[in-house]
Amino acid sequence: MWETFSVYHSVRRAARRPLPYDDIVSVIEFYDRHPINEAQVLAAVARRRGSGTSLRASDLFDFDQDHYGGLAAVETLARRAGVAPAARVLDVCAGLGGPARFLAYRFGCRVAAVELNSGRAAGAARLTRLVGLDRHVVVARADATALPFARARFDACLSQEAFLHIADKATVLGECRRVLRPGGRLAFTDWIARPRLGDLERQRLREWMAATTLQTIDGYRALLGRAGFTTVRAEDLSDEWRPILRSRREMYRALRDETIARFGEPWYHDYQQVYGFFVGLVEDGKLGGGRFSGTA
Ligand SMILES: C[S@@+](CC[C@H](N)C(=O)[O-])C[C@H]1O[C@@H](n2cnc3c(N)ncnc32)[C@H](O)[C@@H]1O
Repeated sequence: MWETFSVYHSVRRAARRPLPYDDIVSVIEFYDRHPINEAQVLAAVARRRGSGTSLRASDLFDFDQDHYGGLAAVETLARRAGVAPAARVLDVCAGLGGPARFLAYRFGCRVAAVELNSGRAAGAARLTRLVGLDRHVVVARADATALPFARARFDACLSQEAFLHIADKATVLGECRRVLRPGGRLAFTDWIARPRLGDLERQRLREWMAATTLQTIDGYRALLGRAGFTTVRAEDLSDEWRPILRSRREMYRALRDETIARFGEPWYHDYQQVYGFFVGLVEDGKLGGGRFSGTA
């Protein structure tokens, strides 16, 4: 608890408009016990490759991407954001740094990866060093609603499946706009609420998965416009995500023994239930995914 408390205060000091305390705590706690974590990634790589050999970024790619659609999804966002070898790229809410490393590996660009959770930020930095990409990818532990960068610092900004955790979407989009140079591009994917999503279901997603607030496709389009983005594009990915989420639920089941060893059996069953609830909402068409982009 003390760690969480200190993190809150360091984030709060830096923030222009601090996140609500409960939101910070629940996001940090959710990812502190996430089935995808640094140790699990390394164990999976060791099972595939054996230990003792030096690792390359590509050895991690099947395991270090905590979003839907894998590398192809990152590549599509990179194209929407205009990522090129000379681009200065920001990955907001970077998790274990998988997408940031892929961008550096694939395009040869430099990437700054920002992550709130201290364990994940430290893990991202360690994995990046391990595969020798630390000259291309820097990791900062910071809150996306108070980015620790000067105005117009980046050419492209990306984010995947993370803004659902941030209630103040206007501020996070405003921060992305502030750190992009004029003409720079933002591209992100996120969960989206569809018309039949009920209040009780929203409340459960908030309590169980730290999904603080969910936007609609039109809501995001309007928020991007208000944040000053032009040429806004919004795509509904819900149909694409449905089979991806089914296989992700299977992947979490396959991680049963590891997850129990790391976090205990009750937690494993709780997570299965929560994830099943989430996938059920997607199957029912109450929840989906969207891809968004715009020019600063
Ligand atoms: C589903 S994971 C996605 C990680 C990464 N984008 C990927 O695709 O592998 C969402 C991440 O967002 C981070 N996050 C949530 N709220 C944040 C905030 N306010 N600032 C920075 N990171 C945040 C979480 O800690 C978590 O690591």
